Amino acid sequence: MNTDQRLQQTINDMVDDRRGILAADESAPTIKKRFAAINLESTEATRSSYRSLLLETPGLGEYISGVILFEETLTQANAAGTPLPAVAWHQKIVPGIKVDKGTEALAGAPGDLITKGLDGLADRLVTYVEQGARFAKWREVYPITDINPTPLGLHANAERLAHYAKTCQELGVVPIVEPEVLMDGNHDIARCAVVTEQVLHAVFNVLLRYGVTLEHMILKPNMVLPGKDCRIAPPEEIAEATLNIFRRTIPAAVPSINFLSGGQTPEEATANLNAINQIGGPWQLSISYGRALQQPVLQAWQGKAENISAAQAALLKRARLNSLARLGKYAAVMETKA
Ligand code: 13P
Repeated sequence: MNTDQRLQQTINDMVDDRRGILAADESAPTIKKRFAAINLESTEATRSSYRSLLLETPGLGEYISGVILFEETLTQANAAGTPLPAVAWHQKIVPGIKVDKGTEALAGAPGDLITKGLDGLADRLVTYVEQGARFAKWREVYPITDINPTPLGLHANAERLAHYAKTCQELGVVPIVEPEVLMDGNHDIARCAVVTEQVLHAVFNVLLRYGVTLEHMILKPNMVLPGKDCRIAPPEEIAEATLNIFRRTIPAAVPSINFLSGGQTPEEATANLNAINQIGGPWQLSISYGRALQQPVLQAWQGKAENISAAQAALLKRARLNSLARLGKYAAVMETKA
């Protein structure tokens, strides 16, 4: 297969009308924080047990088509000695890899952030592909304040995303392009809409300049939401605001939009996705949730072997309900019935 055929095959394996992506790519400091919440120490062994638990969940491949892993996980194996990327693919879940190295302050733009990790990216990607990764993820982060993101922040972050995405495609790796407008703050939904429009407009402008093939990428955006300290908006309002902005900024050539959960509760994230799919658009509208899929799993697991089945049931439940939300057929009563 040539590079274009490999990219298309990966898109075919990841994009359909009922499945979504599991983000399990927490960096070492982040997974330490998640484990601390259940009084579990983060060690190579506990991280490997946890990620095995996720990927070995019976039936997960019915609802999940891709999993984003952290670098370390690509080299880990389950108890039977099978490498974890192979465990995922055994369930027809495509393994992928987070390739960015986190954020730092953006010089010249107080309050804005920029993501590190472009140095040596092509070399790292070659290794990740050898280890089984077929897609990658890079996240840029945009805090909202009265003055942020600045014009420089919008431009610099878009530039990094496009450079990363083109580097991936040249090596046959499908890029997940993740520009995340943060929920933190007391701004209203209209302000989030304005910022999200500016962000997506800048991102697609620079993707075009780099010659990124839109058919061979996946977009991972935020939903348009009021700030966490403002209020909780009804799903119908969020769906309308989100799709208004998407129609203005995201070409229909992008095959799939997979939302991040960004601090929504699992139930909110599913209800909002459901409302979005009740309206719909020219793209697949799916998930790439981290916390909104994993929070109930960690709570059920507590780091104990005897809780593995309960934890896997919790993951399967969230994955199944989000799959229903993809069809616009989710209802809150299913939370208690399931
Ligand atoms: P959340 O769904 O927890 O926001 O995580 C998604 C993700 O991968 C952030 O980069």
